[in-house]
Amino acid sequence: MLHELEQLPADPILGLSAACRADPNPEKVDLTLGVYKDEQGACPVFKAVQLAQRQLVEEEGTKVYMAAVGDDDFNVGIQRLTLGVDSSVLAEGRVSSIQTPGGCGALRIGAELVHTAAPQARVWVSDPTWPVHIPLLGSVGLEFRNYRYYDPVTRGVNFEAMMDDLRGAGSHDVVLLHGCCHNPCGADLGMQQWAEVAALAERQGFIPFIDFAYQGMGDGLEADAQGLRLLVSRLPEVIVAASCSKNLGLYRERTGAAIFVCRDAANATAILSQSQAAARRIYSMPPAHGALLAGRVLSDAHLGSVWRSELSTMCQRIHRLRRCLREALEKQSQRNFAFIEREKGMFSFLGLTPEQTRRLREEFSVYMLDSSRINVAGVNAENIDYVAQSVTRVLAATQ
Ligand SMILES: Cc1ncc(COP(=O)(O)O)c(C=O)c1O
Repeated sequence: MLHELEQLPADPILGLSAACRADPNPEKVDLTLGVYKDEQGACPVFKAVQLAQRQLVEEEGTKVYMAAVGDDDFNVGIQRLTLGVDSSVLAEGRVSSIQTPGGCGALRIGAELVHTAAPQARVWVSDPTWPVHIPLLGSVGLEFRNYRYYDPVTRGVNFEAMMDDLRGAGSHDVVLLHGCCHNPCGADLGMQQWAEVAALAERQGFIPFIDFAYQGMGDGLEADAQGLRLLVSRLPEVIVAASCSKNLGLYRERTGAAIFVCRDAANATAILSQSQAAARRIYSMPPAHGALLAGRVLSDAHLGSVWRSELSTMCQRIHRLRRCLREALEKQSQRNFAFIEREKGMFSFLGLTPEQTRRLREEFSVYMLDSSRINVAGVNAENIDYVAQSVTRVLAATQ
């Protein structure tokens, strides 16, 4: 039976990163994967996580299964981190969450519950969105609709078009929103726009499903959560898929949470049982290590403050890199790259054609996605001029 299955093409993102690793050019630059890299090009372990890990190794007495819902400290910590320590929905007991294998696991559990509640539900996704959203949510059986989002001419959000499209979303639909640091375009909604989305959701009855994979990487932990919190303060139901991959650097530990803001406390309890049943039918119990570390960092005042300051340094570096990249590209090319500095998080579309990105790979060993999405954190003091020169030369050669 298995012999009938055909070889699939390499994953578009992972495949390009592998091609870069195999490239012998010492000047090669990998701007493909969405992982944070420091000045040395390494994706570091947070000091706070290392400290928590030392404690855990000392104290851990068992490797028995986690509860299906995951670690309590982690669940409490991640709810407070996303919704705010003085959140009224937390005080009212309207929230339940389940620890998941990464943000992907959270997206999947959210989709499972949506499908259980309304098999005919449609998921509205931004155009463009993170490509993994489609197989991850679609394989549950949900259908998709696109809403217009990024405008390549203004290099910002086409909010009018977005709202026009979302007027087609109804009370059996969910609207997938990027909570901050939009992947792939880096263009985020402003607070006035979040308020208009909340008003539209109130009128149309759709549920926001917020992918929150980059809290703390845009303007800081609190600032990045403002849009999400505004929706939560106004709407009866919101789903959040939180990830600790980037902001705690726990990528391979697969640490995330599906958080459900429910109509009332009784419904939150019901939803928790549904989440556990959904987890049971996919993977049973979540992995322990990452959530035990995150739970410690989020619940311990000292570890928490070490972590917050590390994350803030990281966030400031991304801002600095955006400014430097803009300046380097403008100096080389005499074109306007101001959008790079306006955007949030690690991603930006450089506005190149797939042909230009291919030439960058083949002639300069500068790797980015065909869409020209780059990971700004792949740039550093050593390679920034080379990246800017290479982009400028490809732009000049293909006018
Ligand atoms: C937009 C978006 N959502 C969710 C995730 C999921 O992250 P993870 O499953 O690694 O926590 C990512 C990771 O790159 C992402 O970019």
